[in-house]
Amino acid sequence: MAKKNRNDQIFTPDRYVEDMLNRIGYVKNLVGKTVLENSCGQGNILVPIVNRYIKDAKIQGLSNEHIAESLSRNIIGFEVNREQKEKCIEYLDKICSSNGIKNVQWDIREEDFLTYNANEIKASFIVGNPPYITYHDMTEDERLYLREHYKVCKKGRFDYCYAFIEASINALKPDGKMIYLIPFSIFRNRYARELRNFIFDGITEVVDFTGEKVFPGITCSVAFLLYEKGKDRDKILYEKRETDEKMMIQKSHLCQDNKKWVFQKVIDGREKFGNYFDVCNSVATLLNEAFLIQPVKEDEQFFYVEEQKVEKEICLKAISTKSEKRKSEEQQYIIFPYKRKEEEIYNYKEKEFKRLYPYAYQYMRQFEKKLKDRKSDKNAQWFEYGRSQALKELWKEKLVLPMVITRQARVYRGDEGAVPYAGYFITQKKDSCYTLDDAVRILQSIEFYQYVKMVGTPTTETSYRISVDDIKQYRF
Ligand SMILES: C[S@@+](CC[C@H](N)C(=O)[O-])C[C@H]1O[C@@H](n2cnc3c(N)ncnc32)[C@H](O)[C@@H]1O
Repeated sequence: MAKKNRNDQIFTPDRYVEDMLNRIGYVKNLVGKTVLENSCGQGNILVPIVNRYIKDAKIQGLSNEHIAESLSRNIIGFEVNREQKEKCIEYLDKICSSNGIKNVQWDIREEDFLTYNANEIKASFIVGNPPYITYHDMTEDERLYLREHYKVCKKGRFDYCYAFIEASINALKPDGKMIYLIPFSIFRNRYARELRNFIFDGITEVVDFTGEKVFPGITCSVAFLLYEKGKDRDKILYEKRETDEKMMIQKSHLCQDNKKWVFQKVIDGREKFGNYFDVCNSVATLLNEAFLIQPVKEDEQFFYVEEQKVEKEICLKAISTKSEKRKSEEQQYIIFPYKRKEEEIYNYKEKEFKRLYPYAYQYMRQFEKKLKDRKSDKNAQWFEYGRSQALKELWKEKLVLPMVITRQARVYRGDEGAVPYAGYFITQKKDSCYTLDDAVRILQSIEFYQYVKMVGTPTTETSYRISVDDIKQYRF
């Protein structure tokens, strides 16, 4: 497969390799057991494997000739990059010669593991840190090939490493074990759902390194995934390095109402946030510059924006977490090109809109081309918002909350009729016994941030992206 230029050669630091080998039980009685490293790079994982193998063989009293022959048969590597493969063999030879072992015929193949037909390999151990390549960075040929050959890559924007996980599991002996250093996002990403189903039966351990810089200079939350073939356990050991917490989690609780996996003990007897509050995505105009205005002056009838004016009657206050942060600045407004009657929202016909609000219409005409180029809802007219989500919910007092939470959720209040245009907004459900003041207290609590860290997708070391569903599922 032709490769784009990309950075998929990030090698595993020693201490993580040692930890992986201990966790998978690559410790003693190793002679005769096949190990596969299917993206071995310069050998950061294979070198300690060979070290352990030789030590174990010597304890068992094997001759150097016997060890050489045994290493040739039981250590298998794959690497597409010739330079890396050669470096790897050089390092492996070095350890051997320092142990008096010569003439190992290394089975390190210069091959693409995902296209190579590896049916003959049945490994006792697979240890690796496969290449992570986003869908965006793959070539079209690679996407097509993976979609056609791997169950876990059939839908959506999969990552290259998903195919590696499937291929590795298929290359295990019936009682073989695999440990992989993988992006933590496989437990959260919607396109990894098939992968989660694929690993569900055999997964026995997850070590979560979120918040730790495993690869120097690179921000990517990673985890160890331990998979034991033939062991259909109902529990999983979850270890969170940041807090040194360890817990056994019932697998059936991993993905309760939520589609992604959440590693937490199920807490009963608490209230679900979504039972008392509605949580919505903000209004999505898909072209804020055409709708948002910052008037330089106003009179009874009009807002003035540079040389133009817009009827006040068609404007509502605009709010977002950003605009609330810079409160000192002028209030922004948003053109609201809909009619509201008896709590329902109706569309204008273009002619009617033009007749009733000629200045707003004229103002928007300058953006007409860009507005028409949006990827809007099917029925949206060019002068309307790209998505018509959440419009009915605006006529309530509300809170706005960003999609990415850093350290503590910051929530801001919005009046009835104010239009949030970024982040999420929260309103009180009818008959809810909890008020918006309660919601502020709940969402700004330390417990909520701890929950965000558990369910969110990390974007930096302290920031996590959460979804509408995550907020609704929170139990307080
Ligand atoms: C993230 S590095 C990890 C290397 C090594 N496993 C480690 O932990 O240090 C991934 C390696 O996989 C190699 N690679 C990429 N695609 C591959 C493929 N389809 N088959 C085999 N190796 C591949 C890259 O050249 C790179 O050396």
